[in-house]
Amino acid sequence: MNIQIITHPLVRHKLSLMREADCSTGKFRTLTKELSRLMAYEATRDFEIEPHEIDGWDGSKIQGERIKGKTLTIVPILRAGLGMLDGVLDLIPTAKISVVGLQRDEETLQPVPYFEKLVDNMDLRPALIIDPMLATGGSMVATIDMLKQKGCRNIKALVLVAAPEGVKLVNEAHPDVTIYTAALDSHLNENGYIIPGLGDAGDKIFGTK
Ligand code: URA
Repeated sequence: MNIQIITHPLVRHKLSLMREADCSTGKFRTLTKELSRLMAYEATRDFEIEPHEIDGWDGSKIQGERIKGKTLTIVPILRAGLGMLDGVLDLIPTAKISVVGLQRDEETLQPVPYFEKLVDNMDLRPALIIDPMLATGGSMVATIDMLKQKGCRNIKALVLVAAPEGVKLVNEAHPDVTIYTAALDSHLNENGYIIPGLGDAGDKIFGTK
């Protein structure tokens, strides 16, 4: 399985706070941001570095370093993915943002894009898809399909909680895409919610019911 479970104690502590039934909208939103920031740190650990000559404080040339290649694009999946955006941007403020929205086709039950605004040069950029819950995996697979159609070849998925069903679907469709998650939970219930999960992450972030 191409999955990395981030087990940093701060991540585990914050995720557990988010699971509490009485976690308020404000607290849930703040924790989503904090968790996303910590997890983005881990998900970018393998970024390549290249030498880069810089002017030092005393007028001399110094062999500095910088991240190799074109700037990352963060890809929030609407709507809940937006809750993770600021946390990732805290770490990578120069990132470009590509937004994807999907809705379920009532006949085929497949996710169909209703909004797609990707940045340029997708073939040259790494992409980090963000969505708090990897449930069935349908939206994640459709988003990866979309990015690959634009030539994107370096894709990672960052989620807070994953269900085995979603991990299986993504791994089978896109074995090259690593899923970073704070937890791999038990299963999906009959309504498609992750158990034990967090409930509806979008509703909790936006304060809707
Ligand atoms: N989406 C959510 O917000 N929560 C789940 O448990 C599954 C999908």
